[in-house]
Amino acid sequence: MTKITDSAEWKALEKHYNEIKNTEMRDLFDDDKDRFNNFHLNLDDFLVDFSKNRITKTTSKLLNDLAGKVKIDDWKKKQFSGEKINNTENRAVLHTALRSQDEQPIIVDGLDVKPEIKKTLEQVKSFSESINNGTWKGYTGKKINTIVNIGIGGSDLGPAMVCKALKPYAHKDLNIHFVSNVDAADLSLTLEQCDPETTLFIVASKTFTTQETMTNAFSARHWFLSHAKNNQEVAKHFVAVSTNLKKVEEFGIHEKNMFIFWDWVGGRYSLWSAIGLSIAIYLGFDNFKQLHHGAYEMDQHFLNAPIEKNIPVQLALIGVWYINFFKFNTQAILPYDQGLSLLPSYLQQADMESNGKFIDRDGHRVCVETGPVIWGESGTNGQHAFYQLIHQGTQFVPCDFIMPIKSHYDLGEQKNTHHKILMSNLIAQSQSLMMGKSIDEARAELLNTGLSDDEIESLLPHCSFEGNRPSNTILFEKLTPINLGRLIALYEHKIFVQGIIWNINSFDQWGVEYGKQIARLVLPKIKGERTSSCFDGSTNNLIDYIKKNC
Ligand code: F6P
Repeated sequence: MTKITDSAEWKALEKHYNEIKNTEMRDLFDDDKDRFNNFHLNLDDFLVDFSKNRITKTTSKLLNDLAGKVKIDDWKKKQFSGEKINNTENRAVLHTALRSQDEQPIIVDGLDVKPEIKKTLEQVKSFSESINNGTWKGYTGKKINTIVNIGIGGSDLGPAMVCKALKPYAHKDLNIHFVSNVDAADLSLTLEQCDPETTLFIVASKTFTTQETMTNAFSARHWFLSHAKNNQEVAKHFVAVSTNLKKVEEFGIHEKNMFIFWDWVGGRYSLWSAIGLSIAIYLGFDNFKQLHHGAYEMDQHFLNAPIEKNIPVQLALIGVWYINFFKFNTQAILPYDQGLSLLPSYLQQADMESNGKFIDRDGHRVCVETGPVIWGESGTNGQHAFYQLIHQGTQFVPCDFIMPIKSHYDLGEQKNTHHKILMSNLIAQSQSLMMGKSIDEARAELLNTGLSDDEIESLLPHCSFEGNRPSNTILFEKLTPINLGRLIALYEHKIFVQGIIWNINSFDQWGVEYGKQIARLVLPKIKGERTSSCFDGSTNNLIDYIKKNC
């Protein structure tokens, strides 16, 4: 394949970058009174404002040409129709099929996947309802009131993020915990809050071999049996979500308590599958379906909207503009909603595990920068931590501000005050990052403070702001299951589009596998089962130090 950097579309963008790299956004707003209208898109009440970016209409046109050049529309069709676009693992990529609301068959290896999806969803529905209505009982006949999801990565982050975000919809008499870390603290502190008679463990693991998850699952079973005493009772308190029936049975979970999914669901895209069992139980199956519905709406928009009106494609292109031309290599995710506080971690995996790659689809080293470092924190907390660097640091950090306009919470007399303060902070941040504060503006402010002229002059460099720092703003009416579904699908498609532009496979994760492989070699050394010094000088000495002191 010819290099993207050799294409006329890329070269046109390079030329254009050199022409506008110093353009000030505040001037772009002065020159175009309609800039907001020209640079925002809606999907119902879901609004994405792109206007505070260092782009002009020409930039948009050239970026759209680039999307055309890499044949985004063909790739979308390949993905949605079940073509095996995960080429290194020879797998289809069909998380979109899991939330499809239509009856169109999708064929993988000669079989329609839709009936299997439907069957599993029905199993999720009836199981979640049996927990919710109390017909499923623990070993002493009590109703289940605590769910512990044991999983890691995609088998943890998605369900944990969704359950936290949509807590206002949750069954009030249910507690939920997510245990992911193999650090004993995670499971121990959770078990302290659990009653074995009323706790259900969901062991969520695509492979059912992940070291952290299996270690936690065996320890949870040990804890449970130390109370229940009888192996037969495990069936009432442990269920599994996996693609690996053999391993699930070996663990002691009966096939009827297993929820399957398929190799064409990537871990970090799996919350829509039975991996979302904890979501279906905690929020109720109807809300799980609503989440699917919202994602399906975004899928349809992504499939059918033209490039220039396509929200995920536009977000992806703006990201490429910053990463590859401005060389801004991080992206902040800043949700102004406490419920969405896990969104940055969730998107870290979604984006960095997908696009953190230097080898392209054809096995060659890429010729451009790929996935950015994703980080962030909920607002306003982040403002008091790292926003200083975003305002005045030497690095530029494109920001995504995300916020519902109506809150789920109401504190009586102070009605809406909290949310109005929250909203005003988001708007203030995106505005000030973009506008900055010139030396003259800073001087005018300082003149009223009673400081001497000398003091003012010495403070000016510190109190002025270059501005021109870009952001997207995503607003929606309320954080409902539908809007959260739209939001997650938006980022999934954005990541996919960027992967296409960089010609990388966004659906494998060989780097993570490498870490797991080495961990398997280190463990016997730490346990003292192997003594040979087979690593480098630092590693061998660190292992020795640990052994001497443990
Ligand atoms: O972190 C690597 C990874 O393979 C992820 O892709 C996956 O979500 C996670 O491990 C957990 O894997 P599993 O669901 O198989 O336990």
